[in-house]
Amino acid sequence: MALVLGIESTCDETGVALVEDTELLVDVTASSMDEHARFGGIVPEVASRAHLEAFLPTLDEALTRAGKTLSDVDAIAVAAGPGLVGSLTVGNAAAKSLAVALGKPLHGVNHVIGHAAVDELVHGEFPEKVMALVVSGGHTSLLKIDDVATQVTELGHTLDDAAGEAFDKVGRLLELPYPGGPHIDRLAREGDPTAIPFPRALTAPKFQDKHAYDFSFSGLKTAVARWVERERDAGREIPLEDVAASFADAVADVLMLKTLNACREHDIDTLVIGGGFSANSQLREMAVKRGEEAGIDVRIPPIRYCTDNGAMIAALGAAVVRRGVAPNALDYGVDSSMPLTRVVA
Ligand code: KG4
Ligand code: ZN
Repeated sequence: MALVLGIESTCDETGVALVEDTELLVDVTASSMDEHARFGGIVPEVASRAHLEAFLPTLDEALTRAGKTLSDVDAIAVAAGPGLVGSLTVGNAAAKSLAVALGKPLHGVNHVIGHAAVDELVHGEFPEKVMALVVSGGHTSLLKIDDVATQVTELGHTLDDAAGEAFDKVGRLLELPYPGGPHIDRLAREGDPTAIPFPRALTAPKFQDKHAYDFSFSGLKTAVARWVERERDAGREIPLEDVAASFADAVADVLMLKTLNACREHDIDTLVIGGGFSANSQLREMAVKRGEEAGIDVRIPPIRYCTDNGAMIAALGAAVVRRGVAPNALDYGVDSSMPLTRVVA
């Protein structure tokens, strides 16, 4: 059994975790979100500097809490992409330095695939075939996983906004604080999801050939903006709860419709949902209900493992080590748009 140190620094979270096989020993995260909130979005340079300041204290805390030292570590895994190039550079420079200093193998792994792999720490090793829906502020991807360490196929992705990004943009137009996602979720729980018939993009039969598993949320965001504008112009009060509920329902409906179609088509009966947006209650509820109806085992990790963290990177690193994948040479570069067919750098 190998002790794998996982390092995450793709966006605004500095994460360090230790995983032994499929057991999580410790997971520590420092976030710079508070420093970005007043700008209404992540400021890359601020995020990079925050990683630089947070890395060593986060590493120290993880080792102390697990009762381990760096010499106990057998392999290092770091998210090599996709993400913000400055943030990635800080984490990968740190990981490479540790690998050289300790003489340990280094694996640069794919952050998005990590969002699926983390579920192995919670619900055990994946069965032979798994479908994964990764939804966050940055990504919306549907992945067919034959082997999380070596064989991943991207069936589809968003053509414009990510699901969380769409929530944040609608949050802005409803004048909710940033990030708007959790606020819309809260309002939606009080509203009627059938109140307003918002569009379901790319679901018409004519899209079956080319975009069966792709998503698009920017038209939906515009539809919400138009509806709100019309009501405001007519001097009517905006029923925030109903707008939020109808919008959230449209997003969850399209995500689950396409994901369950993909499961059916590829004869896969295990679905993993990961990424920060899987905290969304409307999606969670719909996934459990429709999964049950379709006879599909829906695995969603607890929310703390869905947002960016070191555990997901250590989990994928441990899977890569178990499969005997060769470590990376230290001259690999970070890749801000790392393709999802590449598990390792
Ligand atoms: O994975 P994550 O922490 O960071 C990215 O890599 O993007 O995801 C954060 C995204 C944000 O867009 C946030 O608004 C959204 O997920 N989010 C939610 C909820 N919690 C977080 N959106 C809707 N409902 C929620 N409960
Ligand atoms: Zn992420």
